[in-house]
Amino acid sequence: MSFVVINAITVPEGAGAELEARFGRRAGEVDSQPGFVHFRLLRPADGRSTWYVYTEWESREAFEAWASSPAFQHGHRGQQSSGPVSTSAELFTFEVVDLDTPQG
Ligand code: HEM
Repeated sequence: MSFVVINAITVPEGAGAELEARFGRRAGEVDSQPGFVHFRLLRPADGRSTWYVYTEWESREAFEAWASSPAFQHGHRGQQSSGPVSTSAELFTFEVVDLDTPQG
């Protein structure tokens, strides 16, 4: 079952461009992680100040393996070196409902 993890990152007024610039320089190590499917950075289009980091995985285990791997640390090197750009972050997890396969 596909597993989606979304990190909702809220930034101070005017710091959105810096956040996007950091993702533009991202390590890209997640792309070669086993079970990784997709990554998207979603910019708010309604004046809010929360960006959404959308990641999709083949399974929860695949996400958890990455989240506890050196690749996760390397992928967040910018956070360690230049300090956080965000004021808060909230994590959401989802299972993708397979509508083609009847439940039960
Ligand atoms: C306090 C929590 C977090 C903050 C503020 C944060 C912020 C960032 C930032 C600014 C980057 C760009 C690279 C850098 O500057 O380091 C990054 C990379 C990334 N973040 Fe996070 N992050 C957090 C936790 C997470 C979590 C829990 C996920 C799970 C979905 C996630 C997913 C990603 C991905 C996929 C990348 C790209 C890594 C790569 O290219 O290998 N982040 N994050």
